[in-house]
Amino acid sequence: MRVAIVGGTGPFGRALAARLRESGDEVVIGSREAARAAATAAELGVEGSTNAEAVRRADIVVLATKADAALNTARDLREAIGTTPVLSVASELRITAGGVLPSPEPASIAERIQAELEGPVVAGLHSLAASNLGSEQPPDEDAFVCGDDAPAKGLALDLAARVTSGRALDAGPLASARALEGLTAVIVNLNKRYRVHAGLRVTGIE
Ligand SMILES: NC(=O)c1ccc[n+]([C@@H]2O[C@H](COP(=O)([O-])OP(=O)(O)OC[C@H]3O[C@@H](n4cnc5c(N)ncnc54)[C@H](OP(=O)(O)O)[C@@H]3O)[C@@H](O)[C@H]2O)c1
Repeated sequence: MRVAIVGGTGPFGRALAARLRESGDEVVIGSREAARAAATAAELGVEGSTNAEAVRRADIVVLATKADAALNTARDLREAIGTTPVLSVASELRITAGGVLPSPEPASIAERIQAELEGPVVAGLHSLAASNLGSEQPPDEDAFVCGDDAPAKGLALDLAARVTSGRALDAGPLASARALEGLTAVIVNLNKRYRVHAGLRVTGIE
């Protein structure tokens, strides 16, 4: 599968690219700056180009920019992405003195991105910390994917299954992204409280 990682120069994009490359995927790292993409890509042994170039021939686009840039980036890339499925991994968090809070927005980032794009948007991988994803072995954690378009969700579940040694789980319609994105706040609070890089595993599913 050819996977374009928009904003792939950050810790999450890098870790995902390395895992996907290991599993035999064709990966292209995207950046706002071609030179930055090329430098990251050379380090990881994958391709690199501007975000707009990266998405053009992809089977799936992973939108992995800084979370608060995801919506504008999707808007900017609307034409280049066309009908290619997009996987949103973004969670909007608010850091306060009392702890990390989920976004107060009623709709998830993924649903707002869907409103901007022609093709299907799915959401997932929010609970996989970049540090765990990038560790020597694939993380022993479940990955959750949600979406309304069955083929797009299938592609994203296949991708998720290749980057974790846990399970890739179908978490239902795109509206579930509200919970998956919000869950990131819970995980970050756990990380701070217990000084860990927590991940998730669901019980009761064989
Ligand atoms: N970090 C994690 O553990 C983790 C885990 C699960 C999900 N996620 C999600 O994965 C995504 C990436 O996380 P990250 O920690 O790798 O993020 P990051 O380092 O903050 O940003 C990733 C990339 O976004 C690009 N970027 C920054 N500002 C931008 C802007 N204004 N417009 C367009 N692009 C911009 C930059 O690439 P260029 O400067 O090269 O364009 C940067 O390298 C986020 O949505 C996050 O919620 C992260």
